[in-house]
Amino acid sequence: MTQDEAKALVGKRAVEFVEDGMRVGLGTGSTSTMFIRALAARNAEKSLNIRCVASSDASAKLGRELGLEVVSLSELPELDIYIDGADEVDPQLNLIKGGGGAMLREKIVASSAKRFIVVVDSTKVVQTLGKFPLPLEVIKMALPLVTSHLEKLHLNPKQRKHADGSDYLTDEGNFVVDCYAGKISDPAKTADNVRNLVGVVEHGLFLGMTNLVLIAGENGVTELKP
Ligand code: A5P
Repeated sequence: MTQDEAKALVGKRAVEFVEDGMRVGLGTGSTSTMFIRALAARNAEKSLNIRCVASSDASAKLGRELGLEVVSLSELPELDIYIDGADEVDPQLNLIKGGGGAMLREKIVASSAKRFIVVVDSTKVVQTLGKFPLPLEVIKMALPLVTSHLEKLHLNPKQRKHADGSDYLTDEGNFVVDCYAGKISDPAKTADNVRNLVGVVEHGLFLGMTNLVLIAGENGVTELKP
């Protein structure tokens, strides 16, 4: 099975958790895209009477193009379920997210949902978080200050840029700094360290937030629970 096939498989499986009339959070990234496509197909077929909130402009646009009703979080502040991908998942269901730069809005939407289900292919499952760089969303003005503090914490920060060298900006207009710190042996401590820096809006560690992980691999889709 290719990685894309695994993403499609797990995206389709996640749709089974969406019930008629639910308020649904749509995640961001390639696996979430598979979920959104599968959800829209099911909705077209069964008319699920669902309303959605998206964690990025791209997912909102995709959902609407495919016929889903996508509204803002102020219109729909409480969600029944949020389904999204992740860059890494550890055995405690802690995550690194933000490879697509959407971790701030993703964390807001996840925090607004009663249930947060993560959809990944098996390459995302790790024993210890940190091989994937930890992304931080940073206020533009604070970049030098935040970078200097991150260096002192030995977190090896690097501002995210596009291939043409231009600044990478989030949907909220902030910079992203990726921390190439290696293994994160104490995720709660790292989260505390970066959260306390003035100018850091949010970080990509999602700790104790996940209710279920669906993992697609050679044996189909398996579940990881807390
Ligand atoms: C977006 O900012 C991320 O948190 C994504 O959810 C994460 O990067 C997973 O993306 P893929 O499904 O594309 O691997």
